[in-house]
Amino acid sequence: MTQNQASTTFFYFLCNPGSEAFLKEEIRLIYPELSFAYSTDGFLTFKASRVLGKTLRPVFCRHFGKFIMRGSLEEVENKAKQMDLPTRYYSKDGEIYREVSIKYGEVALEIIRVYAQGKEQFYLGEFKNTVLTSPHPGGFSSATLPTDAPSRAYLKVIDGLEYAGIKLSSGDHALEIGSSPGGATYALLEKGLKVEGLDPALMSEICLRHPNFHHHHTSIQEFKVFDLKNHIHWLFVDMNLPPEGTLAEIEKVVEKIRPSLKGAFITLKMTKFDLVKRVPMYLNIVEKMGLKVVVATQLSSHKQEFLIYAE
Ligand SMILES: C[S@@+](CC[C@H](N)C(=O)[O-])C[C@H]1O[C@@H](n2cnc3c(N)ncnc32)[C@H](O)[C@@H]1O
Repeated sequence: MTQNQASTTFFYFLCNPGSEAFLKEEIRLIYPELSFAYSTDGFLTFKASRVLGKTLRPVFCRHFGKFIMRGSLEEVENKAKQMDLPTRYYSKDGEIYREVSIKYGEVALEIIRVYAQGKEQFYLGEFKNTVLTSPHPGGFSSATLPTDAPSRAYLKVIDGLEYAGIKLSSGDHALEIGSSPGGATYALLEKGLKVEGLDPALMSEICLRHPNFHHHHTSIQEFKVFDLKNHIHWLFVDMNLPPEGTLAEIEKVVEKIRPSLKGAFITLKMTKFDLVKRVPMYLNIVEKMGLKVVVATQLSSHKQEFLIYAE
């Protein structure tokens, strides 16, 4: 979203509860045109005091939009009717009251119910449906965790694919670095992919027994890229290492698989608050690997981490 707003524009952001401080710091450092206005768990607003000099898309949010008005439900519904645009309605905590179909590139409205400190308020906002904003209301996940999934990382794959608008083709090859115990691998196997998982820790039986799974039972540091079994189409990275470590270690893999690579889903862990200032550098490092960063976002299945999707 490129902005050319007047001085009174406000923006709202939805993030995972617990990530508000990351988002505030990111905005303070990277979007100095925005000044903090209001925050409650998972919902923050900022005022644009001058025109934004760059595309707005902080990493530590799931979704964001331009504030139009705040009021009773009736008031915001009336305003939305006047504007005559598709309007979805949900709460900042994930209750979905009305979903509408919004075409890619279309401008749409949303009513967000914010209940905080015993007070109920309704925000009306506007956003453009692109890869920078969430395909689902508030960026909440539309998936449920299957009972046999080895870990919640299953949801990170499903949410990441939906956010980036990627449909995997059955028969494609994926490499997952940091694959144990296997939630993400399991999601990929369910989608018909052939998966190579790399992790010094054990994989769950459900993955190990699958005919389309191969375990490289080693660390990324020890791994020799010529041990890869297939031409890799999709790379998934989810190691519990600091971002610098993750990015340094995957470089040799990306270099090797780039000719066949269709896309890379890289999860970076925010092991320290101080790392917020390095986020632009992390995106640059990915671009220096010859990939184009399409979106970097928080997913509802994330803890203190964010996803870079690059192709
Ligand atoms: C968040 S877990 C991954 C969860 C997994 N993606 C899933 O779907 O269940 C992080 C993993 O990174 C792995 N890891 C940490 N350091 C690693 C390294 N140097 N090389 C490979 N894997 C590593 C850990 O063993 C751990 O299993």
